[in-house]
Amino acid sequence: MKILIATDKPFAKAAVDGIRKITEDAGFELHLLEKYTDVNDFYKAVTAVDALIVRSDKVTKEVIDAAKQLKIVVRAGAGYDNLDLAACTARGIVAMNTPGQNSNAVAELAVGMMVYMARNTFRPGTGSELKGKKLGIHAYGNVGRLVAKIAKGFGMDVYAFDPFVNAEDITKDGVNALTAAEELYSTCHYVSLHIPATEKTKKSIGYNLLSKMPEGACLVNTARKEVIHEDELLRIMGERADLKYVSDIAPDNHAVLQEKFGARYFATPKKMGAETAEANINAGLAAATQIVNFFKNNDKTFQVN
Ligand code: 3PG
Repeated sequence: MKILIATDKPFAKAAVDGIRKITEDAGFELHLLEKYTDVNDFYKAVTAVDALIVRSDKVTKEVIDAAKQLKIVVRAGAGYDNLDLAACTARGIVAMNTPGQNSNAVAELAVGMMVYMARNTFRPGTGSELKGKKLGIHAYGNVGRLVAKIAKGFGMDVYAFDPFVNAEDITKDGVNALTAAEELYSTCHYVSLHIPATEKTKKSIGYNLLSKMPEGACLVNTARKEVIHEDELLRIMGERADLKYVSDIAPDNHAVLQEKFGARYFATPKKMGAETAEANINAGLAAATQIVNFFKNNDKTFQVN
């Protein structure tokens, strides 16, 4: 059985070593394609593999077509919007993610970004504290829950909106459950986004919600750039000199936002939410284990297609 790790943004060495141990102990052969710049290298590398591990790498129909032997693809991470699920399903290929494995890294970054924005992106001048501020968690999944927990340690007053989670499961964590996104945005000084990028959520965060945020509010996006309606973000930030936006991965309008809004805006050049050794190890080893269990025991836990 041949397993390929194809990562434009490579895993930490300890994660690759761990994946190698798990797959080789199972009698499989591990191949590695890292930091590729030409997608043709990806097409070539997948030709004869049975399983594929990726991060945010785009597993398009072309990749699937090139991967003649592929039986399973595991996205080592949470969001699987980079996988063409229809193409996988059409070929009977199982697609999985590794939910929860890199959540703590993302949650820590979200809170770190709040501190960074509260302190004028570390420029001289008087900032503010997170203590006593209202934080809204938009989607109360693995990352959202951890952000809530850390923020409570800072003394923030935490709210959450998630139509797919029971209010009791939110309130038992000492978090205020809200029933509408509008209410979250109109209540909270900080809103931390943890929604996936789907056809429904893409461009769903725009003028309507952002214009409701209180004076001095900050939107924190460690989810996906695609969920933001960027034209509307530009409009509201132009209209309101108090609003701030911080994003883990540069939006399409990065240069304009940077030029127009200075310390009210920051974006990481490359997505770094899950860029910790711990998250790489957790997600990478989980992916390897899931692949071994799939081939040995037909275990399809975490299948997403
Ligand atoms: C995820 O969905 O798990 C995160 O966005 C991490 O993505 P990455 O593996 O590309 O860092």
